[in-house]
Amino acid sequence: MPPPSRSLLWLGLVLGAVCASRGPAAPGNATDPLNVLLIIVDDLRPSLGCYGNKLIRSPNIDQLASRSLLFQNAFAQQAVCAPSRVSFLTGRRPDTTRLYDFNSYWRVHAGNFSTIPQYFKENGYVTMSVGKVFHPGISSNHSDDSPYSWSVPPYHPSSEKYENTKEFQKLYPLENVSLAPDPQVPTGLPLVAYNPWMDLRQREDIQALNLSVPYGPIPADFQRKIRQSYFACVSYLDTQVGRLLSALDDLQLASSTIVALTSDHGWALGEHGEWAKYSNFDVTTRVPLMFYVPGRTAPLPVEGEKFFPYLDPFDSVSEVPEPGRQTGDLVELLSLFPTLAGLAGLRVPPRCPIPSFHMELCREGRNLLKLFEDHGEEEEPHVRSNPRELVAYSQYPRPADSPQWNSDKPSLEDIKVMGYSIRTVDYRYTVWVGFNPQEFLANFSDIHAGELYFVASDPLQDHNVYNDSQGGTLPQSFMP
Ligand SMILES: *[C@@H]1O[C@H](CO)[C@@H](O)[C@H](O)[C@H]1NC(C)=O
Ligand SMILES: *[C@@H]1O[C@H](CO)[C@@H](O)[C@H](O)[C@H]1NC(C)=O
Ligand SMILES: *[C@@H]1O[C@H](CO)[C@@H](O)[C@H](O)[C@H]1NC(C)=O
Ligand SMILES: *[C@@H]1O[C@H](CO)[C@@H](O)[C@H](O)[C@H]1NC(C)=O
Repeated sequence: MPPPSRSLLWLGLVLGAVCASRGPAAPGNATDPLNVLLIIVDDLRPSLGCYGNKLIRSPNIDQLASRSLLFQNAFAQQAVCAPSRVSFLTGRRPDTTRLYDFNSYWRVHAGNFSTIPQYFKENGYVTMSVGKVFHPGISSNHSDDSPYSWSVPPYHPSSEKYENTKEFQKLYPLENVSLAPDPQVPTGLPLVAYNPWMDLRQREDIQALNLSVPYGPIPADFQRKIRQSYFACVSYLDTQVGRLLSALDDLQLASSTIVALTSDHGWALGEHGEWAKYSNFDVTTRVPLMFYVPGRTAPLPVEGEKFFPYLDPFDSVSEVPEPGRQTGDLVELLSLFPTLAGLAGLRVPPRCPIPSFHMELCREGRNLLKLFEDHGEEEEPHVRSNPRELVAYSQYPRPADSPQWNSDKPSLEDIKVMGYSIRTVDYRYTVWVGFNPQEFLANFSDIHAGELYFVASDPLQDHNVYNDSQGGTLPQSFMP
């Protein structure tokens, strides 16, 4: 293996952070190999200043966005941790990793697929994992996929001691915390689509509310408290990102390091009467996604000047800066693998054949490199391709046609129905079809229910018009 000249640092932030780094590098030469710092936030929906949220204080992530290409329409392939992480870290859809729950390791259960960090490691990088990158447990062989993905053993301490840190709630006085604009279960929603948020119900304070199962609702003042806590977590997380990027500055690495920030999936905070993840709606599948590429998405840092100065969310609010560039293209988290490889100058893995269980290295996602091309100063900063041709796929399994105790997180053997969902710039369309977990086979002639929401007339997905559209023209080809 060539001597390590580059390094790759993977950072999992469970709405909290830790960090590690390497020594200073020669700054600024465009032909120098680039380091990669990937920040994966757990459960973070795009409730951030840079995504237009006026309440949230996220100055450090907003600053990163102002030097980045920001994706307005990025979607996870399944709205739950382990399946999403294994999917984007291997660059394969859940139907290829065969992980829809938490209970198997893809290398023995599906195929010996390469991961993003493994690919970088095999190309001369030193790769390091801090915090939650792979989901812990059997889905990463109780080792965060060590040794295959990492040059040094992953650093994955418990973050539970930070659980009750409350000072960030002061940023969000309860009277300023709004409720979800659409707390009703959508009209025409098929029962199979609803996730009954059972893990929330297991909390003592929620049990004391005597909520009815499966719909609740949670009393408004308690909803406000949940939202306040989530927003406080976002601001706390933002300070950790700020400290990390400020350290990158101090080490003079901002000119030689690609920084990407994303999340494993979104999170419902009362929208549709739902909480947590576990569904196919935008609110749980849509994720923040941004890439800072030195000299490409922003001019190279000037030596001696702070490029990512730490910003305190408690300081008085200033204007949220514009993203460096942004795009409305529909993209999938699957694109991380080819895009990071391409941005770092590595060969982009070939497209996967179907099926690809036998192939260790290939990618199912689109390479987004073209969107980083510099179109010159005159052109508007909003990057354009042909958004109408693009789709993002997500899926969610259910154990039954109506909500029950394990609807949020069915084990593989209990899966009876799979909801396949496509999001285009114009609509979200989902079909719930029979699924055989022994054969991993979806039966598209066994349709249990459907959902269709139009973006222009129903951006929050509150009115399912699938049944109105039966017999009309529906989106044609469904599988990727
Ligand atoms: C899986 O891939 C890893 C990394 O390339 C390799 O070390 C290992 O031998 C492979 N395992 C099998 C069973 O092929
Ligand atoms: C999973 O971990 C166990 C225990 O460390 C090890 O013996 C086994 O080889 C690992 N599986 C793979 C596929 O590497
Ligand atoms: C809460 O809302 C009030 C009224 O809009 C505003 O003046 C105040 O700054 C807000 N507080 C915080 C901490 O954002
Ligand atoms: C919940 O039910 C218990 C037992 O029936 C009762 O004592 C308690 O007051 C109820 N709590 C609320 C918030 O309604």
